[in-house]
Amino acid sequence: MSDKGHCTVVVGCQWGDEGKGKIVDVLAESVDIVARYQGGANAGHTVHVGEDEFILHQIPSGILHEGKRCMLGNGVVLDIRQFFAEYDELVARGIDLDGRVAVSKRAHLLLPYHRLLDKAAEASAVTKIGTTGRGIGPAYEDKAGRRGVRVADLGNPERLAKRIEAAQERVCRRLEQLGAQANGDLETDMEEALALGDRLLALATDVGRDISQALRAGQSVLLEGAQGTALDLDHGTYPFVTSSNTTAAAAATGTGIGPTSIDAVVGVVKAYTTRVGEGPLPSAFELEMDERVRALGGEFGATTGRPRRCGWFDSVLSRFAAQVNGLTGLAVTKLDVLDTLPELRIVTAYRMQDGSVTRDFPADTWSLAHVEPVFETLPGWEESTQDVRRLEDLPANARGYLDRIVELTGAPAQWVSVGTKRRQIIPVV
Ligand code: IMP
Ligand code: MG
Repeated sequence: MSDKGHCTVVVGCQWGDEGKGKIVDVLAESVDIVARYQGGANAGHTVHVGEDEFILHQIPSGILHEGKRCMLGNGVVLDIRQFFAEYDELVARGIDLDGRVAVSKRAHLLLPYHRLLDKAAEASAVTKIGTTGRGIGPAYEDKAGRRGVRVADLGNPERLAKRIEAAQERVCRRLEQLGAQANGDLETDMEEALALGDRLLALATDVGRDISQALRAGQSVLLEGAQGTALDLDHGTYPFVTSSNTTAAAAATGTGIGPTSIDAVVGVVKAYTTRVGEGPLPSAFELEMDERVRALGGEFGATTGRPRRCGWFDSVLSRFAAQVNGLTGLAVTKLDVLDTLPELRIVTAYRMQDGSVTRDFPADTWSLAHVEPVFETLPGWEESTQDVRRLEDLPANARGYLDRIVELTGAPAQWVSVGTKRRQIIPVV
């Protein structure tokens, strides 16, 4: 089956917050459909349009482009109340959503009890993950445990009631085991969520079929990931990961198209590294630099407001991301955040505790916590890049830094972002 249209995946290559929201917003201009393939309201995609700031948690960033269709694939766990809160806010801010938003009938519902379970599990865990508390883990557990509730179930009230009743009983038992209790709000929260069922059903469709048809008809599609490669359930720094596959292959399973329909995979890397939540960050800055870059880059969680830990660019991770995702190109973001630094470092390898040096991203997360990064030092450019729009106009040292990132990662740069605004982007042709 050959498609006439073009299908691109946008995937995060670090620990999330690489600036995917902005890149999707820029790329959305030239596509017809944008679809999310995994995650839920744990994501926080910040997009600036003119003077306005939008933080999107579930609806793809493409929604800010008039007329584009946006879909949530089957791989997403859909928090109905959060979804409609976001939907209604967009409408209130003047975005016309009529006929533009669709959700997969196969997507799993994230219900209010999942949040309770998430918080109770974190509170009692020996190894804390530092989750966003949005119920993501428990919702995917229910999916894998074959006891989840899907969008399609909303069409059959009797079956829905049975599945929810069974779920509620299990939740109460589980909460008790975790030493927590269902709070008094759960009942009203559940009623509120389920009351939105018909409204959600009205948006339900077969996303895989719709995307396939669009591609056959010659339309262009963007598949948007959430979080990042190092948070992937299989390939990330397990157990300090999210509960879904964030990497590019999941774009196929998470929307319902085949892998052969994907034409390109754009990996988004921030010009430095950040991480929010628990787990190792091998390239972490020393205290002073950490505070400086966090302030310069506004590195606070879009979903939880937590300060993000910051570090140097890690090419061991980006090379791994290039392999796992099959990257065809790179979007390097937030280069301007480094404008004032006199000197920059890039991690090129890890020295393990036994003294050996590796360029492979270790599977053993605990060994990752004890690696000593091997650095390469590059000169800074110490001038503003925010108004640069052409690659050749970048300071020579900024070009040198980018070239080294590209060389070490092994994927060509396609975009360089130098600010939060839509126009602050350098296309690399
Ligand atoms: P969960 O996805 O809420 O279960 O959280 C698991 C881990 O992923 C935690 O370390 C979170 O901080 C991290 N995480 C989840 N979503 C995001 C995101 O969108 N950006 C960055 N980190 C995230
Ligand atoms: Mg984010």
